Formats: sequence, C-alpha cells, structure tokens
Amino acid sequence: MKVALITAILFSSIGLAAAANIEKGQTLVEKANCASCHGAGLNAPILPTYPKLAGQHSDYLYYALHAYQVGNTNAQYGRNNAVMSSQVQAFSKADLQDIAAYVASLPGNLVIKK
Ligand code: HEC
Repeated sequence: MKVALITAILFSSIGLAAAANIEKGQTLVEKANCASCHGAGLNAPILPTYPKLAGQHSDYLYYALHAYQVGNTNAQYGRNNAVMSSQVQAFSKADLQDIAAYVASLPGNLVIKK
C-alpha cells in the first residue's frame, strides 16, 4: 500500500515535470490565430497547399515548428518557409512543446488511403 502510494506520487511528479501543457498550447494557438490558415480545428486549411495539423504526432509537430524557427541558420535541419518562419519566431522551445501537444490532442482525419 505504502509502496503503491509512493510509486504513484513519484510517477505523477515525473509526469508533471515532463508533460507539455496542452491548455497553454491552446491559448498560444488561439492568440496566434493559426486557424486563419490551418482552418477550423486546425483540420480544414484555407488552401489545399496548406497542411492539416490536427492529430499529427506531437514530436513531429515540435520538430517542424522548431525547424521553421531555425530556418536558414541550419541548412541540414531548418525549414525555409517565409509564412511559417514568421509565425514561430516569438515562441520559446517550451511554447512549441505546448503548442505541439495541443495540436496533437485535436481530433483529426489524417489517414493513409490505400
Ligand atoms: C498565414 C498562414 C499561416 C498561419 C497563420 C500559420 N500557418 Fe502553419 N503553415 C502554413 C503553410 C503555408 C505551411 C506549409 C509551409 C511549408 O511548405 O513548409 C504551414 C505549415 C505548418 C506546419 C508543418 C506541417 C507539416 O506537416 O510539416 C506546422 C506544424 C504549422 N504550420 C503550425 C502552425 C501553427 C502552430 C501556427 C500558429 C502559431 C501556424 N502554423 C500558423 C501557413 C500558416
């Protein structure tokens, strides 16, 4: 019993320290109005050349967002897209983690069609 309680406390504290903040991510996404291009629920882009984001893996979303921040400073890793680069400059790495966690939590319809 005691061991279970200690284990539970230990795991919950580790979880809190490591977990991104989905609510904060939502606030940041709404403030930045990402939906003005990526559409309602970030799942209905205004142009078919813009990506659907909802439900994408958070690790990938973070990777992509950070790559836009890095831009031309690292040709191996950076993404050079004028539109998205300007969107991400103001965010810290922790902000990008929170944004990625929020976007990943949204219901999306990204599927592989066969
Ligand atoms: C003015 C329109 C516009 C706005 C606003 C915008 N985006 Fe984008 N976003 C784009 C376009 C266009 C692309 C594709 C860029 C490319 O080709 O690399 C993109 C790509 C992305 C990608 C990469 C997706 C993938 O599959 O690789 C992510 C993640 C993303 N946007 C997140 C966001 C977030 C988060 C915000 C709000 C902070 C945001 N975008 C605001 C237009 C926009």
